[in-house]
Amino acid sequence: MTKTLTIRRPDDWHVHLRDGAMLEAVARHTARQFARAIVMPNLSPPVTNVELAKAYRERIVAAVPEGAGFTPLMTCYLTDNTDPEEVRRGFEEGVFTAAKLYPAGATTNSDSGVTDVANIRGVLEVMAEIGMVLCVHGEVTSADVDVFDREAVFIERILAPLLKDLPQLKVVFEHLTSEEGVQFVESAGVNVAATITPQHLHINRNAMLVGGMRPHAYCLPVAKREKHRLALRRAATGGSAKFFLGTDSAPHAREAKESDCGCAGIFNAPFALESYCAVFEAENALDRFESFASENGPKFYGLPLNEDRITLERNGCEVPGVLETPAADLVPFHAGETLQWRLVD
Ligand code: DOR
Ligand code: ZN
Repeated sequence: MTKTLTIRRPDDWHVHLRDGAMLEAVARHTARQFARAIVMPNLSPPVTNVELAKAYRERIVAAVPEGAGFTPLMTCYLTDNTDPEEVRRGFEEGVFTAAKLYPAGATTNSDSGVTDVANIRGVLEVMAEIGMVLCVHGEVTSADVDVFDREAVFIERILAPLLKDLPQLKVVFEHLTSEEGVQFVESAGVNVAATITPQHLHINRNAMLVGGMRPHAYCLPVAKREKHRLALRRAATGGSAKFFLGTDSAPHAREAKESDCGCAGIFNAPFALESYCAVFEAENALDRFESFASENGPKFYGLPLNEDRITLERNGCEVPGVLETPAADLVPFHAGETLQWRLVD
């Protein structure tokens, strides 16, 4: 008999949907799996104000198949010059669900990001006052800090002092990748939570570097040692309400990844739930999948839980080696593998 798992429809609390032809190609995958998604604003140029976010939201809605019942939740890209009142207005008008802090230079399209959190002090004060979530890319960018240590150093130098200074600020530590990050989130107040991607639960840095360089396993923050992956698996499957689903699905054209300077990002949207489900099953924690995927996120954001349900079946799911789209060829996470669980349409 086929095993099935029926849960409340999940949301994706961190995704890159891109724009133009790429948006057309990828939005359907996220909309098939999730009811809502926190959409990253790192377009070129970035989504830095209410008007840009409204227009982008319309383009996303137009790119999703009709009847999908999918709601994009928009974020404001913070820069050194962000006007606190623009952020307040966007939140109060229901356009912005959160704001995103990219340390300048940390990742794809982060050049206009924040060079020093002191420069957005006024914005953060308003956010703490109105209860708006700050989504954080938690890595320092200093050339003297090893790329594998950048998350731990960010906690020490930036995030811990920031939360001491503004203890009410709601923070989602995005795409957590380290044991230090898990410990920090666990020991912080209820106003601090984290998203965890499928790739950081499945792979450590060996997947990127053993037997040849594997550009499709490269994302930022970069996958780290095995002990960090194990800490993340314990956090995701351990039942704490502080950890929830955020895929960080980040599509790049195949040739942009398979290049002498390959882009960071793993495209996991088409089989994200299948990927997470494999982890929860291996950890004997399928009974905790629903809280991680569908409950902890909306509760943290103060949003209603989804009322409809999805079903996964345990009868095998073959992941193609490549998805050919009009925008580009895209190599999905788990390309060429067979996963056990499959989302039923
Ligand atoms: O791997 C990543 N890709 N990490 C990020 O932070 C950004 C993302 C992208 O936009 O490609
Ligand atoms: Zn991201």
